[in-house]
Amino acid sequence: MSRFIGLIGYPLKHSISPYFQQAALDYYQLDIRYQAWETLPGELGETVSRLRHPQNLGANVTVPYKESVLPLLDEIDELASLIGAVNTIVKRDDRLAGFNTDAHGFIQALREQGNFEPESKDVIILGAGGAARAVSFALVQKKAGSLTIINRTLERAEALANSLRSYQASIGLETKTVVLPWPTVTTPVTFEHCHLVVNCTTIGMKHSPEEGKSPLRLEAIPSSALVYDLIYNPSLTPLLQLAQRAGANILGGLAMLVYQGAASFELWTNREAPVDIMLIKAEEVLERC
Ligand SMILES: NC(=O)c1ccc[n+]([C@@H]2O[C@H](COP(=O)([O-])OP(=O)(O)OC[C@H]3O[C@@H](n4cnc5c(N)ncnc54)[C@H](OP(=O)(O)O)[C@@H]3O)[C@@H](O)[C@H]2O)c1
Repeated sequence: MSRFIGLIGYPLKHSISPYFQQAALDYYQLDIRYQAWETLPGELGETVSRLRHPQNLGANVTVPYKESVLPLLDEIDELASLIGAVNTIVKRDDRLAGFNTDAHGFIQALREQGNFEPESKDVIILGAGGAARAVSFALVQKKAGSLTIINRTLERAEALANSLRSYQASIGLETKTVVLPWPTVTTPVTFEHCHLVVNCTTIGMKHSPEEGKSPLRLEAIPSSALVYDLIYNPSLTPLLQLAQRAGANILGGLAMLVYQGAASFELWTNREAPVDIMLIKAEEVLERC
């Protein structure tokens, strides 16, 4: 009997996860199909119930359900619970367990592709949505020196900073966390001393209303920093193009996408993910999207 892993989100037309996940499953000749389960708002409960059928092993969860899926699951891993978002569901003994592999994927790409060690570094985070939450908790766990969170909706950034502070107080970590309003993205002085800028907004994403735009102007980009855009399509986003012109080092979001997917693969299959094969397939598919 074939078994299935789903990708739950809406819309899914431009997702490349089904291609590189299937390449990894095929590498091990597993009789498992990775399918896009496009789910309309209002149908999330039904899709998650379908996961309980015997032939289904688990799922990835993407925009816009990473947060709303939590109450539908039987258990939530500690990190996913802190972040408040689940991107991976694993069925174990008929129970649905939620995990977040974005944090892991972010750090692995930062270290391996960005050659950057976050401990004691000063970081600017643009955005305060699900991805920014995963990135912030990951950086605090890796003992970043400071985080400056800048978001259009200030209350969302403040809520994130508050949850980071209470987490740190509970385990004795000391990353300084500051929140700034969105207009500061135009002030070069804000960025002068930072080592890493991470774009966790959707600004610059292909097929979105913000396609072709950059969250920062050229003058605001620090030439000595690493500029990391979580967006993977296009691979060279408008922000990264400007960062290159400013003389900064750059990192796009594709490696993170593949590393988070590889961590999900290992949770479903208990096998080592063939990361190189996944990366090659992801790059190949992206060229056509
Ligand atoms: N490479 C990877 O593996 C990976 C993984 C996860 C996410 N991502 C990428 O990360 C990005 C964010 O994803 P998410 O899940 O965090 O989305 P989300 O929860 O919807 O958050 C979107 C963020 O973008 C901000 N934003 C959107 N439009 C804006 C505008 N016009 N001006 C200023 N700010 C704007 C939002 O600000 P408000 O709070 O004010 O709305 C919010 O902070 C997406 O591009 C996604 O593809 C990549």
